[in-house]
Amino acid sequence: SITPVVLCGGSGTRLWPRSRATKPKPFIPLLGKTTLYQETLRRCSDRTIFTRPVVVVGEQHLEHAVPQAGSVAPDAQFIVEPVGRNTAPAIALAALTLDPDAIMLVCPSDHHILDTEAFKRAAQAAAKLASDDWLVAFGILATAPETGYGYLHRGDRIGEGFNIQSFVEKPDLPTAIGFLEDGSYAWNGGIFVFKAGRFLEELALHRPEMARDTEHAYKTGLKTDGALRPEANSFAAIKGESVDYAVMENTRRAAMVDASMGWSDIGNWDALLHEREKDENGNVIMGPGEVIGASGSMIDSDGPHVTILGADNLVVVVDGNDVLVTARSAVQRVGEVSRCKKK
Ligand code: GDD
Ligand code: MG
Repeated sequence: SITPVVLCGGSGTRLWPRSRATKPKPFIPLLGKTTLYQETLRRCSDRTIFTRPVVVVGEQHLEHAVPQAGSVAPDAQFIVEPVGRNTAPAIALAALTLDPDAIMLVCPSDHHILDTEAFKRAAQAAAKLASDDWLVAFGILATAPETGYGYLHRGDRIGEGFNIQSFVEKPDLPTAIGFLEDGSYAWNGGIFVFKAGRFLEELALHRPEMARDTEHAYKTGLKTDGALRPEANSFAAIKGESVDYAVMENTRRAAMVDASMGWSDIGNWDALLHEREKDENGNVIMGPGEVIGASGSMIDSDGPHVTILGADNLVVVVDGNDVLVTARSAVQRVGEVSRCKKK
Protein backbone atom coordinates (compact mmCIF):
# COMPACT_ATOMS: atom_id res chain seq x y z
CA SER A 1 0.00 0.00 0.00
CA ILE A 2 0.90 3.65 -0.42
CA THR A 3 1.38 6.19 2.37
CA PRO A 4 0.01 9.66 1.53
CA VAL A 5 2.21 12.50 2.78
CA VAL A 6 0.36 15.80 2.70
CA LEU A 7 2.43 18.99 2.75
CA CYS A 8 0.96 22.16 4.24
CA GLY A 9 3.19 25.22 4.14
CA GLY A 10 3.71 28.43 2.24
CA SER A 11 1.31 31.35 2.39
CA GLY A 12 -0.49 31.47 -0.98
CA THR A 13 -0.19 35.25 -1.13
CA ARG A 14 -1.44 35.48 -4.71
CA LEU A 15 -4.91 34.61 -3.44
CA TRP A 16 -4.90 37.51 -0.97
CA PRO A 17 -7.09 38.75 0.68
CA ARG A 18 -8.90 35.41 1.04
CA SER A 19 -5.64 33.55 1.63
CA ARG A 20 -3.48 34.98 4.41
CA ALA A 21 -0.39 34.02 6.37
CA THR A 22 -2.61 33.06 9.31
CA LYS A 23 -5.01 31.01 7.18
CA PRO A 24 -3.44 30.17 3.82
CA LYS A 25 -4.88 28.69 0.66
CA PRO A 26 -5.10 24.98 1.66
CA PHE A 27 -7.43 25.78 4.57
CA ILE A 28 -10.07 27.99 2.96
CA PRO A 29 -13.10 26.73 1.04
CA LEU A 30 -12.26 28.13 -2.41
CA LEU A 31 -14.30 25.64 -4.43
CA GLY A 32 -17.45 24.29 -2.85
CA LYS A 33 -17.81 23.61 0.85
CA THR A 34 -14.63 21.73 1.54
CA THR A 35 -11.10 23.09 1.52
CA LEU A 36 -8.29 22.05 -0.85
CA TYR A 37 -6.58 20.34 2.12
CA GLN A 38 -9.71 18.30 2.85
CA GLU A 39 -10.02 17.43 -0.86
CA THR A 40 -6.41 16.23 -0.79
CA LEU A 41 -7.09 13.96 2.19
CA ARG A 42 -10.30 12.64 0.63
CA ARG A 43 -8.50 11.80 -2.63
CA CYS A 44 -6.21 9.52 -0.64
CA SER A 45 -8.87 8.01 1.62
CA ASP A 46 -9.41 4.74 -0.27
CA ARG A 47 -7.91 2.31 2.27
CA THR A 48 -7.63 -0.49 -0.28
CA ILE A 49 -4.81 1.58 -1.83
CA PHE A 50 -3.61 4.02 0.83
CA THR A 51 -2.57 3.80 4.48
CA ARG A 52 -3.43 6.52 6.97
CA PRO A 53 -1.93 9.83 5.86
CA VAL A 54 1.02 11.70 7.30
CA VAL A 55 0.42 15.46 7.41
CA VAL A 56 3.46 17.75 7.64
CA VAL A 57 2.36 21.17 8.79
CA GLY A 58 3.72 24.33 10.42
CA GLU A 59 2.91 24.85 14.11
CA GLN A 60 0.97 28.03 13.25
CA HIS A 61 -1.43 26.13 10.99
CA LEU A 62 -2.07 23.14 13.23
CA GLU A 63 -5.23 24.87 14.49
CA HIS A 64 -6.69 24.47 10.98
CA ALA A 65 -5.07 21.19 9.96
CA VAL A 66 -6.27 19.08 12.90
CA PRO A 67 -9.98 19.99 12.97
CA GLN A 68 -10.23 20.02 9.17
CA ALA A 69 -8.85 16.47 8.99
CA GLY A 70 -11.86 15.66 11.18
CA SER A 71 -14.02 12.98 9.62
CA VAL A 72 -11.95 12.69 6.42
CA ALA A 73 -8.81 11.36 8.07
CA PRO A 74 -9.38 11.11 11.84
CA ASP A 75 -6.29 8.90 12.22
CA ALA A 76 -3.86 11.23 10.40
CA GLN A 77 -0.33 11.34 11.78
CA PHE A 78 0.77 14.96 12.23
CA ILE A 79 4.37 16.12 11.98
CA VAL A 80 4.66 19.67 13.22
CA GLU A 81 7.37 22.04 11.97
CA PRO A 82 8.40 24.88 14.30
CA VAL A 83 9.27 26.94 11.20
CA GLY A 84 9.00 26.25 7.47
CA ARG A 85 12.21 25.03 5.83
CA ASN A 86 10.60 24.25 2.48
CA THR A 87 9.63 20.88 1.09
CA ALA A 88 12.85 18.84 1.14
CA PRO A 89 13.16 18.79 4.96
CA ALA A 90 9.37 18.38 5.31
CA ILE A 91 9.41 15.26 3.12
CA ALA A 92 12.51 13.98 4.91
CA LEU A 93 10.72 14.21 8.27
CA ALA A 94 7.85 12.14 6.91
CA ALA A 95 10.28 9.60 5.42
CA LEU A 96 12.03 9.24 8.77
CA THR A 97 8.80 8.09 10.43
CA LEU A 98 8.27 5.32 7.86
CA ASP A 99 9.73 1.94 7.06
CA PRO A 100 12.52 2.34 4.43
CA ASP A 101 10.52 0.22 1.97
CA ALA A 102 7.28 2.16 2.49
CA ILE A 103 6.05 3.85 -0.68
CA MET A 104 5.27 7.54 -0.07
CA LEU A 105 2.91 9.63 -2.18
CA VAL A 106 3.83 13.26 -1.57
CA CYS A 107 0.88 15.59 -2.15
CA PRO A 108 0.72 19.36 -2.03
CA SER A 109 -2.34 20.40 -0.01
CA ASP A 110 -3.33 23.30 -2.25
CA HIS A 111 -4.12 21.73 -5.61
CA HIS A 112 -7.43 20.99 -7.29
CA ILE A 113 -7.83 17.69 -9.16
CA LEU A 114 -11.05 16.96 -11.03
CA ASP A 115 -10.64 13.25 -11.74
CA THR A 116 -9.89 11.27 -8.57
CA GLU A 117 -9.93 7.94 -10.41
CA ALA A 118 -7.25 9.13 -12.84
CA PHE A 119 -5.24 10.38 -9.85
CA LYS A 120 -5.44 6.98 -8.19
CA ARG A 121 -4.44 5.18 -11.39
CA ALA A 122 -1.41 7.45 -11.76
CA ALA A 123 -0.49 6.89 -8.10
CA GLN A 124 -0.58 3.12 -8.58
CA ALA A 125 1.45 3.25 -11.80
CA ALA A 126 3.98 5.47 -10.04
CA ALA A 127 4.09 3.13 -7.03
CA LYS A 128 5.17 0.25 -9.29
CA LEU A 129 8.08 2.32 -10.59
CA ALA A 130 8.90 3.46 -7.06
CA SER A 131 9.18 -0.14 -5.88
CA ASP A 132 11.94 -0.48 -8.51
CA ASP A 133 13.73 2.43 -6.81
CA TRP A 134 12.63 5.25 -9.09
CA LEU A 135 11.74 8.69 -7.79
CA VAL A 136 8.57 9.38 -9.69
CA ALA A 137 6.97 12.72 -10.57
CA PHE A 138 3.48 13.29 -11.98
CA GLY A 139 3.70 14.83 -15.47
CA ILE A 140 1.02 17.30 -16.51
CA LEU A 141 0.48 18.29 -20.15
CA ALA A 142 2.16 21.69 -20.54
CA THR A 143 -0.12 24.25 -22.19
CA ALA A 144 1.69 27.54 -21.49
CA PRO A 145 5.25 28.69 -20.80
CA GLU A 146 4.68 28.90 -17.03
CA THR A 147 7.81 29.92 -15.16
CA GLY A 148 6.50 28.93 -11.72
CA TYR A 149 6.57 25.21 -12.50
CA GLY A 150 9.17 22.51 -12.86
CA TYR A 151 9.62 20.82 -16.27
CA LEU A 152 10.16 17.12 -16.90
CA HIS A 153 12.07 16.14 -20.03
CA ARG A 154 10.51 12.87 -21.12
CA GLY A 155 13.02 10.08 -21.82
CA ASP A 156 12.74 6.35 -22.54
CA ARG A 157 9.69 4.34 -21.67
CA ILE A 158 9.95 2.37 -18.41
CA GLY A 159 6.99 0.37 -17.10
CA GLU A 160 3.89 2.50 -17.21
CA GLY A 161 5.94 5.68 -17.31
CA PHE A 162 9.13 7.26 -18.60
CA ASN A 163 12.60 7.99 -17.45
CA ILE A 164 13.22 11.73 -16.91
CA GLN A 165 16.23 12.98 -18.91
CA SER A 166 16.33 16.23 -17.01
CA PHE A 167 14.26 17.98 -14.38
CA VAL A 168 14.35 21.76 -14.62
CA GLU A 169 12.76 23.71 -11.78
CA LYS A 170 11.28 27.14 -12.53
CA PRO A 171 13.05 27.99 -15.81
CA ASP A 172 13.19 31.56 -17.11
CA LEU A 173 10.65 32.58 -19.74
CA PRO A 174 12.76 32.01 -22.89
CA THR A 175 13.68 28.53 -21.61
CA ALA A 176 10.03 27.73 -20.81
CA ILE A 177 8.98 28.86 -24.29
CA GLY A 178 11.65 26.58 -25.77
CA PHE A 179 10.38 23.62 -23.69
CA LEU A 180 6.82 24.22 -24.85
CA GLU A 181 7.85 24.37 -28.52
CA ASP A 182 10.01 21.28 -28.16
CA GLY A 183 6.99 19.24 -27.08
CA SER A 184 8.85 16.62 -25.06
CA TYR A 185 8.50 18.42 -21.73
CA ALA A 186 5.69 18.07 -19.22
CA TRP A 187 4.95 20.27 -16.23
CA ASN A 188 5.84 18.83 -12.88
CA GLY A 189 2.60 18.46 -10.94
CA GLY A 190 4.42 18.65 -7.59
CA ILE A 191 3.21 15.15 -6.64
CA PHE A 192 5.94 12.56 -6.03
CA VAL A 193 6.12 8.85 -5.33
CA PHE A 194 9.18 7.06 -3.93
CA LYS A 195 10.36 4.69 -1.24
CA ALA A 196 11.03 6.46 2.04
CA GLY A 197 14.51 4.93 2.33
CA ARG A 198 15.40 5.68 -1.27
CA PHE A 199 14.44 9.33 -0.83
CA LEU A 200 16.62 9.63 2.27
CA GLU A 201 19.55 8.03 0.43
CA GLU A 202 19.21 10.50 -2.44
CA LEU A 203 18.97 13.41 -0.02
CA ALA A 204 22.10 12.19 1.77
CA LEU A 205 23.86 11.97 -1.59
CA HIS A 206 22.93 15.42 -2.92
CA ARG A 207 22.33 17.42 0.29
CA PRO A 208 24.31 15.60 3.00
CA GLU A 209 24.13 18.43 5.49
CA MET A 210 20.36 18.78 5.17
CA ALA A 211 19.90 15.03 5.50
CA ARG A 212 22.05 14.90 8.64
CA ASP A 213 20.50 17.98 10.26
CA THR A 214 16.93 16.86 9.58
CA GLU A 215 17.62 13.42 11.00
CA HIS A 216 19.19 14.97 14.10
CA ALA A 217 16.21 17.30 14.62
CA TYR A 218 13.85 14.37 14.20
CA LYS A 219 15.71 12.08 16.59
CA THR A 220 16.04 14.71 19.32
CA GLY A 221 12.45 15.85 18.90
CA LEU A 222 9.25 15.20 20.83
CA LYS A 223 6.84 12.41 20.06
CA THR A 224 3.48 12.79 21.77
CA ASP A 225 -0.24 12.18 21.31
CA GLY A 226 -0.21 11.55 17.58
CA ALA A 227 1.95 14.62 16.84
CA LEU A 228 5.69 14.44 16.16
CA ARG A 229 7.78 17.57 16.65
CA PRO A 230 11.40 17.87 15.50
CA GLU A 231 13.64 19.69 17.97
CA ALA A 232 12.98 23.37 17.28
CA ASN A 233 16.50 24.88 17.33
CA SER A 234 18.14 22.25 15.20
CA PHE A 235 15.25 22.21 12.73
CA ALA A 236 15.38 26.00 12.45
CA ALA A 237 19.11 25.78 11.68
CA ILE A 238 18.48 23.73 8.52
CA LYS A 239 19.05 25.60 5.27
CA GLY A 240 15.67 25.38 3.57
CA GLU A 241 15.30 24.16 0.01
CA SER A 242 12.55 22.60 -2.09
CA VAL A 243 12.58 18.93 -3.05
CA ASP A 244 12.68 20.01 -6.68
CA TYR A 245 16.07 21.72 -6.37
CA ALA A 246 17.52 19.53 -3.63
CA VAL A 247 16.67 16.10 -5.01
CA MET A 248 14.68 15.94 -8.25
CA GLU A 249 17.07 18.08 -10.32
CA ASN A 250 20.02 15.99 -9.15
CA THR A 251 18.92 12.40 -8.87
CA ARG A 252 19.78 9.95 -11.64
CA ARG A 253 16.73 7.85 -10.81
CA ALA A 254 13.99 10.32 -11.80
CA ALA A 255 10.96 8.94 -13.62
CA MET A 256 7.52 10.23 -14.51
CA VAL A 257 4.01 9.04 -15.16
CA ASP A 258 1.53 10.96 -17.27
CA ALA A 259 -1.33 12.19 -15.14
CA SER A 260 -4.27 13.49 -17.08
CA MET A 261 -6.62 14.29 -14.21
CA GLY A 262 -7.87 17.86 -14.53
CA TRP A 263 -5.08 19.29 -12.44
CA SER A 264 -4.81 22.92 -11.37
CA ASP A 265 -2.63 24.41 -8.64
CA ILE A 266 -5.05 27.35 -8.36
CA GLY A 267 -2.07 29.67 -8.43
CA ASN A 268 -4.05 32.91 -8.70
CA TRP A 269 -7.53 34.43 -8.93
CA ASP A 270 -7.70 33.82 -12.67
CA ALA A 271 -7.08 30.08 -12.23
CA LEU A 272 -9.80 30.02 -9.58
CA LEU A 273 -12.19 31.85 -11.90
CA HIS A 274 -11.60 29.11 -14.49
CA GLU A 275 -12.57 26.38 -12.01
CA ARG A 276 -15.70 28.10 -10.67
CA GLU A 277 -19.21 27.99 -12.04
CA LYS A 278 -20.06 30.90 -14.35
CA ASP A 279 -23.25 32.64 -15.39
CA GLU A 280 -24.31 32.98 -19.05
CA ASN A 281 -21.88 35.89 -19.53
CA GLY A 282 -18.94 34.05 -18.05
CA ASN A 283 -19.04 35.93 -14.75
CA VAL A 284 -18.48 34.32 -11.35
CA ILE A 285 -20.43 35.64 -8.38
CA MET A 286 -19.68 34.27 -4.94
CA GLY A 287 -21.47 35.98 -2.06
CA PRO A 288 -23.63 39.08 -2.39
CA GLY A 289 -23.14 40.92 -5.67
CA GLU A 290 -24.10 41.38 -9.29
CA VAL A 291 -22.37 42.02 -12.59
CA ILE A 292 -24.19 44.25 -15.10
CA GLY A 293 -23.17 44.67 -18.72
CA ALA A 294 -19.85 42.91 -18.41
CA SER A 295 -18.29 39.51 -19.00
CA GLY A 296 -15.43 37.48 -17.57
CA SER A 297 -15.56 39.27 -14.22
CA MET A 298 -15.63 37.80 -10.72
CA ILE A 299 -17.02 38.93 -7.39
CA ASP A 300 -16.06 37.08 -4.22
CA SER A 301 -17.40 38.87 -1.18
CA ASP A 302 -17.83 37.72 2.41
CA GLY A 303 -20.03 40.68 3.38
CA PRO A 304 -20.70 43.84 1.40
CA HIS A 305 -22.83 43.68 -1.72
CA VAL A 306 -20.56 44.35 -4.71
CA THR A 307 -21.80 45.66 -8.07
CA ILE A 308 -19.64 45.58 -11.19
CA LEU A 309 -20.98 47.75 -14.00
CA GLY A 310 -19.59 47.56 -17.50
CA ALA A 311 -16.13 46.34 -16.53
CA ASP A 312 -14.97 43.15 -18.26
CA ASN A 313 -12.36 40.81 -16.82
CA LEU A 314 -12.33 42.46 -13.42
CA VAL A 315 -11.80 40.62 -10.14
CA VAL A 316 -13.21 42.05 -6.89
CA VAL A 317 -12.56 40.21 -3.64
CA VAL A 318 -13.78 41.38 -0.24
CA ASP A 319 -12.45 39.75 2.92
CA GLY A 320 -13.18 41.55 6.18
CA ASN A 321 -11.62 44.99 5.96
CA ASP A 322 -9.63 44.20 2.82
CA VAL A 323 -10.87 44.80 -0.70
CA LEU A 324 -8.94 43.73 -3.79
CA VAL A 325 -9.87 45.16 -7.19
CA THR A 326 -7.69 43.86 -9.99
CA ALA A 327 -7.70 43.28 -13.73
CA ARG A 328 -7.55 39.58 -14.56
CA SER A 329 -4.39 40.30 -16.54
CA ALA A 330 -2.66 41.48 -13.34
CA VAL A 331 -3.57 38.65 -10.97
CA GLN A 332 -0.04 37.21 -11.03
CA ARG A 333 1.13 40.35 -9.22
CA VAL A 334 -1.22 40.16 -6.24
CA GLY A 335 1.62 38.69 -4.16
CA GLU A 336 3.47 42.00 -4.55
CA VAL A 337 0.78 43.90 -2.64
CA SER A 338 2.44 44.90 0.60
CA ARG A 339 -0.72 44.25 2.66
CA CYS A 340 -0.42 40.55 1.72
CA LYS A 341 2.48 40.18 4.07
CA LYS A 342 0.57 41.61 7.06
CA LYS A 343 -1.18 39.20 9.40
N1 GDD B 1 5.06 21.14 5.49
C1 GDD B 1 5.53 22.04 4.64
N2 GDD B 1 6.61 22.81 5.00
N3 GDD B 1 4.93 22.19 3.43
C2 GDD B 1 5.45 23.12 2.60
C3 GDD B 1 6.55 23.92 2.92
C4 GDD B 1 7.16 23.75 4.21
O1 GDD B 1 8.13 24.41 4.60
N4 GDD B 1 6.79 24.75 1.86
C5 GDD B 1 5.86 24.46 0.92
N5 GDD B 1 5.03 23.48 1.37
C6 GDD B 1 3.90 22.88 0.66
C7 GDD B 1 2.96 23.89 0.06
O2 GDD B 1 1.86 24.15 0.92
C8 GDD B 1 2.47 23.20 -1.19
O3 GDD B 1 1.35 22.40 -0.88
C9 GDD B 1 3.65 22.29 -1.58
O4 GDD B 1 4.42 22.13 -0.41
C10 GDD B 1 4.52 22.85 -2.73
O5 GDD B 1 5.09 24.06 -2.33
P1 GDD B 1 4.96 25.38 -3.20
O6 GDD B 1 5.66 26.47 -2.47
O7 GDD B 1 3.53 25.60 -3.58
O8 GDD B 1 5.81 24.98 -4.48
P2 GDD B 1 5.70 25.64 -5.92
O9 GDD B 1 4.28 25.76 -6.34
O10 GDD B 1 6.53 26.86 -5.96
O11 GDD B 1 6.41 24.55 -6.88
C11 GDD B 1 6.14 23.16 -6.78
O12 GDD B 1 4.87 22.84 -7.34
C12 GDD B 1 4.72 23.10 -8.77
C13 GDD B 1 3.32 22.66 -9.19
O13 GDD B 1 2.35 23.37 -8.50
C14 GDD B 1 7.26 22.44 -7.55
O14 GDD B 1 7.19 21.07 -7.26
C15 GDD B 1 7.17 22.68 -9.05
O15 GDD B 1 8.14 21.91 -9.74
C16 GDD B 1 5.78 22.30 -9.54
O16 GDD B 1 5.64 22.54 -10.96
MG1 MG C 1 2.46 25.71 -5.38
